Amino acid sequence: MQKMKQMYSGKAKSVYFTDQADYLILHFRNDTSAFDGEKVAQLDRKGEINNKFNAFIMQKLAQAGIPTHLERVLSDTESVVKKLKMIPIECVVRNIAAGSICRRLGVAEGLDLNPPTFEFFLKNDALHDPMINEYHIRSFGWATDEQVAKMKELTFKVNGVLQKLFADAGLLLVDYKLEFGLFRDQVVLGDEFSPDGCRLWDKETRKKLDKDRFRQGLGGVVEAYEEVAHRLGVDLSPL
Ligand code: ADP
Ligand code: TMP
Ligand code: ASP
Repeated sequence: MQKMKQMYSGKAKSVYFTDQADYLILHFRNDTSAFDGEKVAQLDRKGEINNKFNAFIMQKLAQAGIPTHLERVLSDTESVVKKLKMIPIECVVRNIAAGSICRRLGVAEGLDLNPPTFEFFLKNDALHDPMINEYHIRSFGWATDEQVAKMKELTFKVNGVLQKLFADAGLLLVDYKLEFGLFRDQVVLGDEFSPDGCRLWDKETRKKLDKDRFRQGLGGVVEAYEEVAHRLGVDLSPL
């Protein structure tokens, strides 16, 4: 497969066309961003860890019957994915209160959410990813009702698979964000699942092992990502 010209460069990944119209190459960079691009830094090894972490998780999800865009890992920092028509919506599931829900609803960090809660956000940095509901999605035509139902179904199915996977590694899956797109009219999980887009706490100590270490200036960001990868059994050795 030939890597062709760049299609898009985001805050953490760059996307390349390939010589096959249905496939793209995702390049996971070391760039790390928080607060919709307000805080940025280069973190050594992060691109490589997230590329391999994401591939490991996407393979587990595919085995559980969740359609994902991942085709294969191409290099330490690149993966081949199906070219999706992205739906500009972020699907968030929360098992434990943290982050924006604490600010918005005045609840304490660490509160168990039983049953887990679900939120949609519009993917728009300039507007700081505002929370939206299904009526907005319908009125603005961002997705059909059928696609919305599928995104919710798949996002909750991911929770079932990953809560157990992380629990077996001594980790709490606090919350996470997923992005979906369309491939031949099918709703498919795209983008990435890595500690950049979820919250993971040690089950015993509740130590934060995700991008909150960067957001909150706690240090040891990449070391935390590596610890999670090692606990899960993700192979981080050079290809
Ligand atoms: P952002 O755009 O939020 O800054 P990234 O730096 O992660 O995010 O850039 C990756 C971009 O690629 C995102 O906009 C994401 O929606 C898009 N993307 C992810 N997977 C696919 C895919 N399979 N096909 C097309 N676009 C994708
Ligand atoms: P929040 O608490 O900031 O709303 O985020 C909830 C979860 O979703 C958290 O794990 C971070 C992730 N997330 C992103 O990765 N990118 C985003 O743009 C948003 C809104 C959330
Ligand atoms: N993912 C967003 C960003 O990169 C928001 C965040 O993680 O705080 O800015």
